[in-house]
Amino acid sequence: MGMGMRVRSGMLKAGGLVLLVAGWAVGAGAQRAQAGAASGAATPHHAVATRPTAAATPRRAAAVPMVAATPPMGWNSWNYFAGKVTDKDIRDTADLLVSSGMRDAGYVYVNIDDTWEGARDANGKIQSNEKFPDMKALADYVHSKGLKLGIYSSPGAKTCARFEGSLGHEEQDAATYAEWGIDYLKYDLCSYSGVMRAQFPNDPAAQNKMMREAYEKMHQAIVKTGRPMVYSLCQYGWDSVWEWGPQVGANLWRTTGDISANFDRMSLIGRGQAGLAKYAAPGHWNDPDMLEVGNGRLTLDENRTHMTLWAMLAAPLIAGNNLTEMKPEIAAILMNKEAIAIDQDALGRQGDRVFADGPVEIWAKPLKNGGKALAIFNFGETASEMRGIGLHLKEAGLPAHVTARDVWAAKDLGRIGDDYKVTVPRHGVVLLVVR
Ligand code: GLA
Repeated sequence: MGMGMRVRSGMLKAGGLVLLVAGWAVGAGAQRAQAGAASGAATPHHAVATRPTAAATPRRAAAVPMVAATPPMGWNSWNYFAGKVTDKDIRDTADLLVSSGMRDAGYVYVNIDDTWEGARDANGKIQSNEKFPDMKALADYVHSKGLKLGIYSSPGAKTCARFEGSLGHEEQDAATYAEWGIDYLKYDLCSYSGVMRAQFPNDPAAQNKMMREAYEKMHQAIVKTGRPMVYSLCQYGWDSVWEWGPQVGANLWRTTGDISANFDRMSLIGRGQAGLAKYAAPGHWNDPDMLEVGNGRLTLDENRTHMTLWAMLAAPLIAGNNLTEMKPEIAAILMNKEAIAIDQDALGRQGDRVFADGPVEIWAKPLKNGGKALAIFNFGETASEMRGIGLHLKEAGLPAHVTARDVWAAKDLGRIGDDYKVTVPRHGVVLLVVR
């Protein structure tokens, strides 16, 4: 929708680091406690800890609950159902998240994307449309399954699919979400970019200031409700959002335009995240968009590459497939415990590229136990013989020999060095955990 205007700006621009939170990040990770305070769910991967806000004094800050201590995990309706999503789809998905084992693997947020919105009533209160007859009842149902419910809106008058947005109703909408029992808000710029341009036609800096203020406004509205909600920014990475996302209360921010279920788009987005690692930490994450695992014509190798890349990026793992027809091999990828553990590692460090030779790239992600995840990707069109390329352990900050486990092969490899030989299939990956 409106993709023509989605120009990604300054993706790799190195800028002034505004992560005021770096000092407390690891401490917050260490304070992880069982989540589920809001919904009564026991959620192993989404701890509630405490954190200071950027502006707060340490004493006041300790009382602010932290959501997304690790990258949020769940499911979102857009990538598969798009504008067709209904109350029944959400209930079916909630049931299947439980019966498939996905909830227990960490996928706890069930997020309704665009097209749930109805008209406002006489008092300006937002109503859900005929596809969602009773949002409060739906939230109760989702919560009864030990899951959490997410919703979607825009700072503009209209969402990207031209449904009702929150412009001028921010506090009222946040209060309504809290009343319904919403646990997660994706806030998508959409038509607000037109408002920004109309206000300051030739002044991008002033437009960007308006954008930040709009995101801060909804942040304040959420805080005012007193209900913990994950706050997900969606403005396609404009104005180097990773530099200011934490300051407007974002728990995650989209770094790119929309993903689609094809290898070129997915891998372009994933590889384009190189250089952003320093902006991620417990409580706030770079979001390269929702998973397409199991969608479109992605092959098994491509699906594994997608899952691996997102895990290496400490990206939110928000599945986007139709669970009513999920194949066992797709379930096995989405629920690979070791891949999920890399993504959710309590250290909260995003991985980065340490070596590239044409289509072969090696990425490393530091882990809490002192080890590293090492992913050898082959984005090329033919199987790659790693002989001659080597593991590049030194570039990954590792000693000459390491003890390794191959995650997708579920195999301990013992001690290996740079001469370890592995063939990486076309569009495939070998994922190692080493120490
Ligand atoms: C934008 C977002 C998508 C989705 C749609 C809904 O394109 O980037 O993720 O939310 O809007 O209209």
